Amino acid sequence: MEPPASSLRVARAGTMIKVVFVTNGERSAVSEVAQTPMKGAVREAMEEQIGHEFSAAYLYLSMSGSFEAANLTGFARWMRAQASEEQVHALKFFDFLLDRGESARLPAIEEPSYGFRSPLDTFEQALEHEKRVTRFIHDLYDLAVSEHDYPAQVFLNWFVSEQVEEEKSATEIVERLRMAGEDTAALLMLDKELGERQQ
Ligand code: FEO
Repeated sequence: MEPPASSLRVARAGTMIKVVFVTNGERSAVSEVAQTPMKGAVREAMEEQIGHEFSAAYLYLSMSGSFEAANLTGFARWMRAQASEEQVHALKFFDFLLDRGESARLPAIEEPSYGFRSPLDTFEQALEHEKRVTRFIHDLYDLAVSEHDYPAQVFLNWFVSEQVEEEKSATEIVERLRMAGEDTAALLMLDKELGERQQ
């Protein structure tokens, strides 16, 4: 079916902004107003990053479910909060693209891992995932620099700092789980402590 077209008359005499809605989410070429366009490579990398952030959310939700099934409700709560945080990260990228006047084409999200051997194994995988996300963010930053996309660099600064925090907290938990070893009491204490995470 032909996409609907409409026009909007603004107050200034003789000025007509014609808006055409197209089915693939792209802006109409006939629009007379436009923001400074993003370079395609930066926009596409940010769209991919939305997928990476949602992948992280999906992985942490999967981990939360495994902990819940093992009655480690504190670890489960921590992972669920982490999953929520990753969704916030994804939406930051989504909103940034919209603020730049771009539509966001969302990539597919892969099925996350399922069935983790132990709390230590789970958090080691979480740490590895965070390191991977850090590499994506750094690559994205490099791209924003090479493409002279200054707003993107400012925006990405927050993520560069955030990844330091993400790796730090995951590393601390891995180290404490290694210290706990086979000590169930120590494991349950850590479970209780992590369960106090608010968000
Ligand atoms: Fe959004 Fe934990 O990386």
